[in-house]
Amino acid sequence: MPKNVLVTGGAGFIGSNFVRYLLAHDQQVKIINLDALTYAGSLANLADLPDPARHTFVKGDICDRALVDGLLREHNIDTIVHFAAESHVDRSILGPGQFVQTNIVGTFTLLDAARQAWLVEKLLPVDQVRFHHVSTDEVFGSLEKDDPAFSETTPYSPRSPYSASKAASDHLARAYYHTYGLPVSITNCSNNYGPYQFPEKLVPLMILNALNGKPLPIYGDGQQVRDWLYVEDHCDAIWQVATRGEVGETYNIGGGNQPPNLEVVDTICDILDELAANSPHKPHRQLKQYVTDRPGHDRRYAMDIRKIESELGWQPRQTLSTGMLKTVQWYLDHADWLAEIRQDSDLTGWMERNYSNRGGEK
Ligand code: NAD
Ligand code: DAU
Repeated sequence: MPKNVLVTGGAGFIGSNFVRYLLAHDQQVKIINLDALTYAGSLANLADLPDPARHTFVKGDICDRALVDGLLREHNIDTIVHFAAESHVDRSILGPGQFVQTNIVGTFTLLDAARQAWLVEKLLPVDQVRFHHVSTDEVFGSLEKDDPAFSETTPYSPRSPYSASKAASDHLARAYYHTYGLPVSITNCSNNYGPYQFPEKLVPLMILNALNGKPLPIYGDGQQVRDWLYVEDHCDAIWQVATRGEVGETYNIGGGNQPPNLEVVDTICDILDELAANSPHKPHRQLKQYVTDRPGHDRRYAMDIRKIESELGWQPRQTLSTGMLKTVQWYLDHADWLAEIRQDSDLTGWMERNYSNRGGEK
């Protein structure tokens, strides 16, 4: 079993949830958390960790080969769980360069450092190491209404700079397995939601705008479909695959919750009407506003998760209603977290850049 795990991007949304999950579920493992603390990463996401003595935070860039080489040796790393990425589609449309750098060059840097340490220098037995690469359903492209869900063998067809850069990183990970025998596994997951998600993404953005009486910007007709998964379920699936999944294999992960965006927003508004009963902005649905669509907007994603279910016995625990209720409650209870995030990240500047030219009332 893994002893020393390098988590990249562990100060971001899913990475920080994964650090918390792993410290709580595995009593032995030590975690080295390498994160550059971009706008999307924050130490506020790592407050109150269970058993923090088993977690070491290192501020640094995954593209820094010397730093990565040093960490693999200093901490005798046997497992890498690689989350670090630029992750927001809208930012990739306005500035694709950083996506190429972090998602492609960064993944290459980690893969090659692992190859050198584990396969060339043989610092650990090859059957005791694993490189787990965290990826997305967006690499498969966009489904039409009646198309079957994405499976592990669906051909890649990425359509945004973000998904193209993630597809490239998946190809590199697979190439390192086939060419060098690096023990790689890959998961492709659908849309996550839950605590600590940066409020540029649909779910936290809608919660926070609604609480502040601001418009809820719906791109296009709001009928785009995503496959929503509560973040803790994703963390559990990743750990199952990293520890029990076949080397060289890919596993799809999804929540089996596939409502159109408009329904997600309505659900959030209805939960807020209940939980924030004194809100002056009730009913929150009145804040919805249709704005100019995202260029190249993928219409529909859906994941076929039969492989991970049958091989590893994994299934999501939360439905969209139970997970969304927990999520909205978490944001209501963590105004202090939000204040810290706002201070660090130029969220206001991003809102201006992304929404000021989309039409509708600001
Ligand atoms: P996020 O944007 O919240 O966090 C990314 C983290 O990576 C941040 O902490 C950031 O500081 C760090 N980072 C960025 N560039 C770095 C660099 N060069 N070096 C070191 N650290 C760097 O992202 P997220 O939503 O938590 O996604 C994590 C991973 O999961 C990504 O690889 C993403 O593609 C994948 N994924 C996300 C979702 C989702 O719904 N959010 C779904 C499927 C897969
Ligand atoms: O599918 C997995 C992917 O899910 C991950 O790989 C990405 O890292 C993650 O960001 C997410 O991508 P999406 O583009 O699907 O997520 P986002 O929250 O940005 O948007 C969800 C849907 O909501 C999408 O159809 C666009 C729409 N949307 C989004 C925003 C921010 C709106 O209608 N209005 C908005 O203001």
